[in-house]
Amino acid sequence: MARTTGIQSEPLRIGIAGATGRMGREIATAAQSWAGVEIRGGLVRPGSPALDSDVAIPLFTDPVALSAVVDVVIDVSTAAATPGIVEGARQSGTPLVCGVTGLDGHGRATLESAATEIPVLYARNLSTGIAALLDLLPRLLAALPDADVEIVEMHHRGKKDAPSGTAEALAEVIVQARAELDGQRIVYGRQGVAPRQPSEIGMHSLRGGANSGEHTVLLATGGEEIRIGHRALSRRTFADGALRAAVWIVRQPPGLYAMADVL
Ligand SMILES: NC(=O)c1ccc[n+]([C@@H]2O[C@H](COP(=O)([O-])OP(=O)(O)OC[C@H]3O[C@@H](n4cnc5c(N)ncnc54)[C@H](OP(=O)(O)O)[C@@H]3O)[C@@H](O)[C@H]2O)c1
Repeated sequence: MARTTGIQSEPLRIGIAGATGRMGREIATAAQSWAGVEIRGGLVRPGSPALDSDVAIPLFTDPVALSAVVDVVIDVSTAAATPGIVEGARQSGTPLVCGVTGLDGHGRATLESAATEIPVLYARNLSTGIAALLDLLPRLLAALPDADVEIVEMHHRGKKDAPSGTAEALAEVIVQARAELDGQRIVYGRQGVAPRQPSEIGMHSLRGGANSGEHTVLLATGGEEIRIGHRALSRRTFADGALRAAVWIVRQPPGLYAMADVL
């Protein structure tokens, strides 16, 4: 069944930054099942071999040129490319959905600054399930305030950044929910003599195969354990989330939004 945008007159024109990547291609495929949206262009890096190949959508290498011909840009490129893509959207006044992970301080600051002028949605995980998990986590932590907390994530062998952006988002929620706990720190894997400290958040990244994304949060006390997990069964989950966010954000005033705002 075709998804609907609620906008019936003109199709919503979407541009995909990172159009030739795994997520970019998945979003383009998913859009074919959505009524009322149209992929009008893709952004690729200058010199990309895709420019010489037969691709179904117009390809751009200049973020401003792409932003100028669409109603909304979905950025699923790379952390290095994102600041330029955000700047292109800002210059054109085009709303932006950014799903890129591994952004550094500069990348995050660029998003925050652009959000004073255009609507920006930043989601390190575009799925509904992870938004629900982020919402639920503080309640579990409040119920087990003394629990040791560990995060385990697994992704396909081609994933560039570690830990995943989702794991970072989960850790941020944990740190915030237990703000009164002194000396909270994230420990990335363990090796050698490494006894666990009470305020540690263990972070473990597994890489291999074709896994679209799996996250488990473990809360362990001396007497019981809670394991709460999420598994994306395919990238389609994130692609549909990106399209849902794109349809939503074009109706919002400037500001920095999260996936929870869409839901
Ligand atoms: N938020 C979510 O739910 C979610 C879900 C999955 C993935 N992600 C994130 O989305 C991003 C992309 O993931 P992926 O698996 O699709 O990676 P990918 O397959 O490596 O795709 C990234 C694409 O960006 C392109 N690119 C590089 N520089 C560019 C530039 N200057 N302008 C435009 N495009 C450029 C790359 O092209 P070249 O190969 O030619 O350099 C590549 O096609 C990652 O940050 C990933 O963590 C987010």
